[in-house]
Amino acid sequence: MRKLIVGNWKMHGSGESARLLVGGILEHQRKSPAKGSVVLCPPAVLLKEISRMVEGSSVALGGQDCHAQAEGAYTGDISARMLREAGCAYVIVGHSERRMFHGEHSKTVAAKAERAIAEGLAPIICVGESRAEREAGQAEAVVASQVAESVPPGADASQFVLAYEPVWAIGTGLTPTAADIHAMHAHILRLTGERSAVLYGGSVKAANASEILGIPGVGGALVGGASLKAEEFCAIIDAGNG
Ligand code: PGA
Repeated sequence: MRKLIVGNWKMHGSGESARLLVGGILEHQRKSPAKGSVVLCPPAVLLKEISRMVEGSSVALGGQDCHAQAEGAYTGDISARMLREAGCAYVIVGHSERRMFHGEHSKTVAAKAERAIAEGLAPIICVGESRAEREAGQAEAVVASQVAESVPPGADASQFVLAYEPVWAIGTGLTPTAADIHAMHAHILRLTGERSAVLYGGSVKAANASEILGIPGVGGALVGGASLKAEEFCAIIDAGNG
């Protein structure tokens, strides 16, 4: 089954490394019979250049965040419309690094997702528990309240994507067991009426992608570190088309 594979570059790289990385991914996609659904989320200043590079290919673009307002005096922020004009079809909202370092709460995440949908973007809404919450047996309850508060009221499941990213698995090399991923994805699917795509994120790499993407209920992967190396990322794309 075809999975959605999203690369979240975060604040990594340079113009030159981005060109090399995109070049490698495009070459892979050209040669690959099953092209799969691939989304790249580079830093915003690189979007326009990369948009020109991927034009006409099977690779789509996403922003890493957007503002909840249409426009205004919000120094340093980027609007959903600007992202769309720069070539994006998606935008990540509520990533745990935004929640942690920018104090974003689920209500803000819902407002951002709502704005993204209004501008014609598909928000990738991130949720996930901390290590302490998992150890306290609260993972499912925490994720349920994040989903309830972060998904805009009235949004149709076809308009957004959810990403389950346990905070303790991001950038650590640790992943939940397959049984835990299965249970959480089934939980999220139940909460959203079984209609939304739910990606898994947190230390996905070439070596574990087939196993993770093969878990029922996993609709794709949100990939951080491993999306910065073309060979590694392309192996994950292939695992999503198995
Ligand atoms: P990671 O990051 O793949 O480096 O763990 C995932 C993410 O933050 O989306």
